[in-house]
Amino acid sequence: MLVVLKPTAEEVSREAARSIAKAVRLNPAIKLGLATGSTTVAVYRELARLHREESLDFSQVITFNLDEYLGIAPEHSQSFHHFMLEHFFSHVNIDPSNIHIPDGTVTTDYEKYCASYEAEIQRAGGIDLQILGIGRNGHIGFNEPSSSFASKTRLKVLSKATVNDNRKFFGPGETIPRLAITMGICSILATRRVLMLATGAAKSTAVANAIEGPITASVTASALQLHPDATAILDEAAAAQLKQKDYYRDVMEMTELFTPGKLS
Ligand code: F6R
Repeated sequence: MLVVLKPTAEEVSREAARSIAKAVRLNPAIKLGLATGSTTVAVYRELARLHREESLDFSQVITFNLDEYLGIAPEHSQSFHHFMLEHFFSHVNIDPSNIHIPDGTVTTDYEKYCASYEAEIQRAGGIDLQILGIGRNGHIGFNEPSSSFASKTRLKVLSKATVNDNRKFFGPGETIPRLAITMGICSILATRRVLMLATGAAKSTAVANAIEGPITASVTASALQLHPDATAILDEAAAAQLKQKDYYRDVMEMTELFTPGKLS
């Protein structure tokens, strides 16, 4: 994994947005895999700015979101549909028919629905660039600890840790989702390129386990060690527990020298 170290969270989001923008300019009909969550908010804000001020064009871009809560309507303020509209889609010129987000209102035949989401990704030609956050328990998408590395889009029970992390976003008396539809680890490993973003001290254990720990289903982000083109962009706090930071800095320097196109 290429590890890109940035001093601040702001620089992580700027670097991520620059990489995405560059990929969109190179391939205007790019298939982007998208994540929600607090880490991505500033990335989408920067992409919206690039659209507004530097004519970054999303008209041909096709997007697939990683996940959505089960049992939540798209209009619900905590749905990932709502998040994407609020933070990204309503600020850029994306064609609504090019947006794909798992449907959290499915009530029957979940397997068939999940297979159809996976088939839709295949029909589009696969995901070129996948954006990921990482949970404090090391999850990517909603692939909670113990998720199979062979998993594809499916229904997933959320761990207690994830449900508790989400509690603050739901009002008193509101039901907090216990399940989600999520792309699987196999679906993520099949994407052509991955950018995993992490900021803040709360992520430092998960980040160290994912990048320098053993490859294990107990930390599903560690599966990214098997991806041929995965980059982790981290701020200082999230990188705090990495043991090989000096080496990653050397690699960044050499990458800039030898493959300058690789970093944004
Ligand atoms: C969201 C998702 C999750 C988040 C992760 C980090 O679509 O797939 O894996 O990326 O939980 O969330 P934040 O950024 O809120 O800490």
